Parts: sequence; C-alpha cells; structure tokens
Amino acid sequence: MTKSRSLRIALSVVVAAALAACSSTATTAPAATTGAAAPTTAAATSKVYTYKDMTVGFIQTGSESGWRAANTSSFKETATADGITLKFYDSQNKIENQITAFNGFIQDPAVNVIVLAAVDVTGYDDVLKAAKAAGKVVVIEDRRIDSDASLYYTYIGSDFDKEGNEGAAAMCTALKGMSGANVVEIGGDQGASAAIDRAKGFREGIANCTDESIQIIDSQNAAAWDPTVGKSIMEAFLKKDAGKIQGVFAHNDELGVAAIQAIDAAGLKAGTDIKVIAFDATADGFKYLISGEMFADIECNPLLAPQVYKAALDDLNGVTGQASWTPSEEGQFFASQGADALKAILATRKY
Ligand code: AHR
Repeated sequence: MTKSRSLRIALSVVVAAALAACSSTATTAPAATTGAAAPTTAAATSKVYTYKDMTVGFIQTGSESGWRAANTSSFKETATADGITLKFYDSQNKIENQITAFNGFIQDPAVNVIVLAAVDVTGYDDVLKAAKAAGKVVVIEDRRIDSDASLYYTYIGSDFDKEGNEGAAAMCTALKGMSGANVVEIGGDQGASAAIDRAKGFREGIANCTDESIQIIDSQNAAAWDPTVGKSIMEAFLKKDAGKIQGVFAHNDELGVAAIQAIDAAGLKAGTDIKVIAFDATADGFKYLISGEMFADIECNPLLAPQVYKAALDDLNGVTGQASWTPSEEGQFFASQGADALKAILATRKY
C-alpha cells in the first residue's frame, strides 16, 4: 500500500464523515454498510473490502509452456473459488500487448486490481505510474521487473538467480570428475527476468564447482521460449560442437525436452552421453527425469494466485508494511531419486 493511497482513502473517509455531519440530507458515510448510525472516526468508516469486491485485470505473458498453463489455471481457479471477478488478458508474449492491456485496465472503472506477469524486465514505468495515479492496486507476479518498487504494492515470484545457482550445482554433480567439461545453454526469451537471472545464477554457480572446471562453450536464447526454436538451436550446437558437449543448461522444461529430442535424433543418448538440466519441474519434466534422460529439474512454482490475491486485498484494505518481494517456495528433483519415487511425487503434484 503506498502512503498516497492510504492518504486518499483516509481523506475521502474524513471528507465523507464531515459531509455527513454538515448535511441533514446525507444518509450514511459512503463506506457505512450497516443500519447503525454512521461511525464518526475515520478508521470506523473505511470500507472493509472482500474478494467479492475485487475485479482483477490479469495481464498474462501468453501460453508458452506447461508452467504458464499452470500459472493461468491458478489465477482462474482461485478467482472462481474466492468469488473474484477476473478479466484475463493473454499478451502473446509481446510487451506492446501488455502495455495496451495495462492502459485498458487503468481506464476500466470496474477494475480495481491489476496483476502483471511481465514478458520483459523493463518498459513498464509509464503504465505503472498511470495505474498509481488512477488509484489501482498493482501486484507483480511470477517475474521481477526493473521498475521502482514504489510503483506497485508488491512482487510475488521466484528467486531465479537462486534457481540458476541450483541448476549449476546439479550440473557440477552431473559432470563430476570431468575436468574441462563443456556445457551449452538454450536460454528463454532474452528480455525475461527468468532467463536473465537463471543465466546469471548458473554462471556464478559453475564457477564454484569444486572438482570440475565447467565452461559454457555456446549459448543462444529461444525467442518467446519457443521449443521449436530451442530444438533448432540444439541441433546447430550438436553440429558445430560435435563430440565436445557434455551438458545442456536449458532454461525451462520445454527447452530441455527439445534438447533431448535433438540429442536422440543425433544418435546420442541423453542422460548418458549428454546430461540435461532444466527448470520448472512440470509433469513433462518429470517424465524425462523418470526415463533418466533429464538429469535434474529445478522447480519454479506457478501456483501463486492465492498469495497474489491476498496481497491485493490487503492493499485495498490499506494494509501497509508488505515486503516488496515474497520469493516462491521451490524444490529440485533428480533422476537419481529413482523412477518409483519420482512417480509417487508426480502423483501428488498439480502440474
Ligand atoms: O517466469 C517463469 C518462466 O516463464 C518459466 O520457467 C517458463 O516456463 C515460463 O515461460
């Protein structure tokens, strides 16, 4: 909650109370919802919002992965369960669409909350300022952005740098004892903080490998996280770096599976000849952990809607002191856990 928003609420309540006191025609202060006499203190007249008062404009990146589908489901299912009115916008992984949607929700009088899953890490300052001026609650979910934290209530999403560190530790284990091991990187969309930070964390992590010296000999980003592009990138790496690749650092499960498919098509064995590390830990990723073709899958939690909606409701109700970022709770999974154990875990998961 920004101070200016609290001030606006308090002022509107004081003005309403003052108007009620001065005018015999005023019936109740706008916030009063019971038959009781209009309370006199500002605090007592401020409306207590519930989820049924929330109309959320949700600006989703697109539908580029199993993770994204699970994230969208979390917001739609939770809105239905909580009685929240949800206006969903699919940005088709284009920031220009996100800006258009943001402005549309700012101008929509029915929308009091805007949630953003950012395609890129920059480019949102102007719409965030406009939303703030319009008194809209804004919560950033999934990916961090570079805008000043004062321009939105809070950010709820993963620590992608930490995920990158964990992926590097897994790669160190996968290539243990191989001095001078070579890794290729198939990155997500280069503008996304998920890709930027995983890349950063992974590089920091492999520098700390104890026994092995691992180097990234090739790297390319797949625009919009497109697995078809990812497979072509891996095919090109296998030709250019033939016989020199021991590991693949793929920024999500779809890109990891695409790499495995390219490895197999080249007559090599994923999991034996080349070790693949990916991120998200979706059902698809688990399939390849169970088969042993993927060495490790670092979880990225898509089930964020309950936390995001609660934060938005807190802002509507003037709750202050919210942390600027709440990192998602996540784990990591390894083929070495064994097919039976992984199947049992998969049976308990929602995505
Ligand atoms: O921001 C999370 C990332 O976005 C996921 O790892 C990826 O699958 C999605 O595109």
